[in-house]
Amino acid sequence: MAASREQTHFGERNVALDDKQSLVDGVFRSVARRYDLMNDLMSGGLHRAWKDALLTAVNPPAKDHRGGPKGSHRAFALLDLAGGTGDVAFRVAEAGGAGTHVTVCDINADMLAVGRERATARGLDDRVTFQEGNAEALPYRDRSFDCVTIAFGIRNVPRVAHALTEAHRVLKLGGRFLCLEFSSVDVPGLDALYELYSFQVIPRIGAAVAGDRESYRYLVESIRKFPKPKAFAAMIEQAGFRRVSFRPMTGGIVALHSGWKL
Ligand SMILES: C[S@@+](CC[C@H](N)C(=O)[O-])C[C@H]1O[C@@H](n2cnc3c(N)ncnc32)[C@H](O)[C@@H]1O
Repeated sequence: MAASREQTHFGERNVALDDKQSLVDGVFRSVARRYDLMNDLMSGGLHRAWKDALLTAVNPPAKDHRGGPKGSHRAFALLDLAGGTGDVAFRVAEAGGAGTHVTVCDINADMLAVGRERATARGLDDRVTFQEGNAEALPYRDRSFDCVTIAFGIRNVPRVAHALTEAHRVLKLGGRFLCLEFSSVDVPGLDALYELYSFQVIPRIGAAVAGDRESYRYLVESIRKFPKPKAFAAMIEQAGFRRVSFRPMTGGIVALHSGWKL
């Protein structure tokens, strides 16, 4: 008799937990070069506003911050998990002072390659570092970062609880964890419209623009499978975070979760 293997979901499909990561990696290898264009097309540019809200919550020390000796800049280390092509990292690095440094950690070399090219084009090579790594087993020491973010990444990670525990481990005491993720639409009328758009329009845009209907179908299906905001907040608490809260945005299309290491 075959040994039972722990199952999880990959979009609407049930797959062995150990197989999910390679399937996810295939999706992001396939979409990497078109990822940023597709983000704009699929969200109608809304992902920019959501990421701006995340930046406001990160609140890096501003460019004109003068903390210590004259002209010095307060050091601020951000880890952007599943940071892909660097969108969140660039926002934080550009808003922060000279002491701000962002590490983008992502499991996918193709997404990181696009991110490195974009960082060079923006003159941010010395402020943003791209590193390959798995959110479930981070290659960083305990208490290394002031803030850990993850945007539209956590639902792709097979063992969400491991990633949350790791985020907690690498945060300094007093540090903040912020997670931006698609959530559950809770506005009557908008839910049906959103469902129609997600399942009928997005895979078609994926097929037309990126020649890849299946990857975009996965991205939509994975949103539906992700825990509701209260349940996800409970998972963040279980990982050791305190003062956990969440804020739904755009009728619940996305939610911004926050927790502190205290
Ligand atoms: C939808 S993209 C989000 C990229 C970026 N954060 C953004 O908001 O534009 C999801 C990212 O999660 C990454 N990812 C998936 N599983 C991961 C894991 N176990 N560890 C680290 N990154 C992972 C993928 O490679 C991909 O770059």
